[in-house]
Amino acid sequence: MKRVINKGVDATQSVAFSKKLPYLQMPAYSHKPSAYDGPSYQDVLKMRKDNISSSTFAFYKQPVMVVEGRMQYLYDHTGKRYLDMFAGIATSGLGHCHPRINAKVHEQVDKLIHCSSIYLHDQMGLYAKELTDKLPDNIDSVLFSSSGSEANVMATSLARCHTGNYTVISLQNGYHGHGGTQHLTNIGSWNHNIPKTQGIEASCFPDNYRSPHKPEEAAEIYA
Ligand SMILES: Cc1ncc(COP(=O)(O)O)c(C=O)c1O
Repeated sequence: MKRVINKGVDATQSVAFSKKLPYLQMPAYSHKPSAYDGPSYQDVLKMRKDNISSSTFAFYKQPVMVVEGRMQYLYDHTGKRYLDMFAGIATSGLGHCHPRINAKVHEQVDKLIHCSSIYLHDQMGLYAKELTDKLPDNIDSVLFSSSGSEANVMATSLARCHTGNYTVISLQNGYHGHGGTQHLTNIGSWNHNIPKTQGIEASCFPDNYRSPHKPEEAAEIYA
């Protein structure tokens, strides 16, 4: 299966655009990315095509190859800097290589890289306590997962167990992950050609701004 997303868009177009509008230039930044010495762009593209499932697709005709990150910035293999307005992805908007986060990660991986949840670990307890202390009083426990998709699978199961209801409504263009959540994600490019997961109903996005319905009637109609 061959997938090309945003076929007509070329990432280099944005460069041409920013040259025409100098006030869109990014501010100076002191970090100097290291010289990229990995395989060539073409080789990486080929390995992606030959050795990685086509369900993992890249955006753009010439996908950007990201090789380094520093705080809000990313760098491609040529050293070109990009502003990451998402600071990562929605499920971990931590920026890139924040020195405090990196120091903590290094400290832990040098000590113990994995521990199953069937054993006790001090950091798991401390983290859960720190999180729940920040949440409203009636949210006093957490369930850790290792990805956003897994979190949404678990959230769906919890909601089904708690309410006794089965059907989940997924809104048009909502991204909720892949794998177990691919049909909860209501975007065609993430839905593979397999039977749809049961108990998920698609609905249009209740957008009152562009709604064809009158504002006073819209909520009722969408519901
Ligand atoms: C809103 C939202 N939900 C779920 C996910 C899936 O997360 P993951 O890629 O960690 O499985 C993402 C990822 O970007 C997301 O943005």
